Amino acid sequence: MLAGDVRLTGRVLLSPLCGVTDSPFRMLAKSHGAAMVFCEMTSSDGLVRKNPRTFELLEYRPEERPIGAQLCGSDPAVMADAARLCVDLGFDTIDLNYGCPVRKVIAREAGAAMLTDLERLERVTSAVVSAVPLPVTAKIRIGWDQSSTNAPDVAQVLERAGVRWIAVHARARSEKFTGRAHWEVIGQVKQATSLPVIGNGDVKTPEDALRMVTETGCDAVMVGRGSFGNPWLFGRAQRLLDGLDPGPEPTPRERIATAIAHLHDLARKKGDYAAVLMRKHVAWYVRGLYDNSTLCRKINHAQNPAETEALLLEYLDMLERAPEPVLAGTANGHEGAEADGHGSGESS
Ligand SMILES: Cc1cc2nc3c(=O)[nH]c(=O)nc-3n(C[C@H](O)[C@H](O)[C@H](O)COP(=O)(O)O)c2cc1C
Repeated sequence: MLAGDVRLTGRVLLSPLCGVTDSPFRMLAKSHGAAMVFCEMTSSDGLVRKNPRTFELLEYRPEERPIGAQLCGSDPAVMADAARLCVDLGFDTIDLNYGCPVRKVIAREAGAAMLTDLERLERVTSAVVSAVPLPVTAKIRIGWDQSSTNAPDVAQVLERAGVRWIAVHARARSEKFTGRAHWEVIGQVKQATSLPVIGNGDVKTPEDALRMVTETGCDAVMVGRGSFGNPWLFGRAQRLLDGLDPGPEPTPRERIATAIAHLHDLARKKGDYAAVLMRKHVAWYVRGLYDNSTLCRKINHAQNPAETEALLLEYLDMLERAPEPVLAGTANGHEGAEADGHGSGESS
């Protein structure tokens, strides 16, 4: 799949995810086969005001390429200026967030609010497209609520404004992250535009990815929550899409080893605070494993990466000695996202 000069070698991409898709997470996704990764949503206002925290969200390593920045905002001039800053930062693409349901974003008429004003949507998109030499893409929801699903119309406006592909999170703004994604609307968007369409919503297993492509005709899939604690999903889904055996699910030992590598990478930048940042990731890595709740309770009190690592190794040792079957579930096929940061108020 192509976006301008950016050629994707696979069809399984990592979603932008506030509070999750930092550089260590993206590196893992990439090394396990994600075709492309994105920084989490950044506010165009924060960027043009040169807010250091906003710039921190846009730090990446060259090995993550191709990598997109994702901008959120509703003012054409500010969005265009923010996009120029992303060019200076060396990004490969710029994605426009037209799906964030969070109240403070909607209050600024940005995110999913843009789906309710197609004239403004076109002005903002065109302003960004003409401001930068990079491919500009968009990520949308199916509409504001289920009674006003307008993603096919939105797609036509975006195509006219010059975006290179459209990712569709197949839920309305009113649904936030709950209920089943309405994949049929991804198919309707595909029919309405000649642009590549990326399907998103509820891809948790390689089989889900294949089913989404088959049922909707989408060109690629984007994985959000299904990647939590499960970077193996990218390669396994890609192999299934290529007609190959997806290969086995990760063993408990692989999961713990990956959690420790993740922790080390986080600690390089964040020091002791990596122990805190790692809590949710550990819970995801050990999901479904025997007596994981005891480990999580202990990990939540770890003060530094060395303590977290020791607890993970002790847990692995216990698993390998345990007479009981160690797998109570699987690494993929996770349930919903209640424990996945949705309460943070930052999700889009
Ligand atoms: C914790 C969290 C943070 C998110 N942050 C973003 C974001 O920054 N930008 C964005 O476009 N979507 C964001 N999303 C939405 C996801 O990218 C994705 O569209 C949604 O979760 C549906 O895909 P899934 O069912 O595979 O998770 C976020 C979702 C979650 C759960």
